[in-house]
Amino acid sequence: MALMNGLKLVNNLSGLRQAILPAVSGSQQRRLKSWWGGVEMGPPDVILGVTEAFKRDTNPNKINLGVGAYRDANGKPYVLPVVRKAEDLMRSENLDKEYAGIIGVPEFCASSAKLAFGADSEVLQSGRNVTVQSISGTGALRIGAAFLSKFHGSKNVYLPTPTWGNHTPIFKHCLMDVKSYKYYDPTTCGLDFAGAMSDLKEIPEGSVVLLHACAHNPTGVDPSQEQWKEICQLIKSKNLFPFFDMAYQGFASGDLDKDSWAVRHFVSEGLNVALCQSYAKNMGLYGERVGAFSLVCADKDEAARVLSQIKILIRPMYSNPPVNGARIAGRVLGNPDLYAQWLVELKGMADRIIDMRTRLRDCLAKEGSSKNWQHITDQIGMFCFTGLTPEQVDKLTNDFSVYLTRDGRISMAGVYDDNVKYLANAMHQVSK
Ligand SMILES: Cc1ncc(COP(=O)(O)O)c(C=O)c1O
Repeated sequence: MALMNGLKLVNNLSGLRQAILPAVSGSQQRRLKSWWGGVEMGPPDVILGVTEAFKRDTNPNKINLGVGAYRDANGKPYVLPVVRKAEDLMRSENLDKEYAGIIGVPEFCASSAKLAFGADSEVLQSGRNVTVQSISGTGALRIGAAFLSKFHGSKNVYLPTPTWGNHTPIFKHCLMDVKSYKYYDPTTCGLDFAGAMSDLKEIPEGSVVLLHACAHNPTGVDPSQEQWKEICQLIKSKNLFPFFDMAYQGFASGDLDKDSWAVRHFVSEGLNVALCQSYAKNMGLYGERVGAFSLVCADKDEAARVLSQIKILIRPMYSNPPVNGARIAGRVLGNPDLYAQWLVELKGMADRIIDMRTRLRDCLAKEGSSKNWQHITDQIGMFCFTGLTPEQVDKLTNDFSVYLTRDGRISMAGVYDDNVKYLANAMHQVSK
């Protein structure tokens, strides 16, 4: 009986709805279904496109050198044992899942600033840094770009050529005027230092200059410390704003202090820098999305005002960042035993990559390649800019199932004991 009444009520309601709603014509229905008819198909992401093509390939010898994620000596994704330990520790602490504040986990932010600027940094002692948790390095760049767009006098941001593919869209989304300066010399597969300096000299005062703190992506080419000193002097004398992207601290050389040398040098020269940090590579926390954004300010009072505005920018973007990854990184950075273990594991990753550079170069020589591959071992960090042409890359992919971006960049992290010979042979075949 109750069911019958219920059905009657539903019938009555749908009849009522039909009666009160205006009739919808065929063309209107089509219009209702098609809000996005004018949206064009966008191009796939270059790196993710490489991975998709790799997945479709059935060749058992296939190699994916597109994506920048570390692999162990057997080519498997690697979770650092110290990260597992930090997770065990967190489980024993029975933590709640409450929201973090807008700037994230405070202990993590403090430890992250210490890691970047150095434990004895005057900036930290005088409290003139603003450091907030970010959604990994990308999120840090996004906060920085949004802040500059709103508060910096100049909208010009100069990026090295080439640079990480996400830099341009990040700054453009934040309505900055993206420009470039020379960086890489394809004839030497090294730094075009003279070109960089002459371009930087021409940049209008007040402009923002993006600098890769270490392990430049995609080229793996970094300035020497002497060259950094000259770049710093020029930036200072021209009153440009240095914006550091440091996605690979410790991952480049295995030494955290060495990899942050450029940032610390600029700060010691009195330059108030912006800094983006990521824990994706150096702690293997890729999908946890842990990073930090810092601005060095003139004094504590300026820092307090800047922090208040950064909070106002973050709040409508994502309210507050996720806690899990920052808790992991915070424990690794803040616990002396875990920190000591991390240094060993970090060096292990960096050394494996450095070793693979040598192995690849040796194997190419053994294959009988007469080309100069010295840049493979000169370059640093996760990536190697091989110097292969787009046509040679196509051949590498089509004939040998080796996947990489058409600019010739290979992720050294994807090279390991079992595939280095195969890769060397393939590179030699397409380049001889
Ligand atoms: C130069 C550079 N900056 C920033 C990032 C940011 O990465 P994530 O957002 O994964 O931390 C990367 C990652 O590849 C990078 O290479």
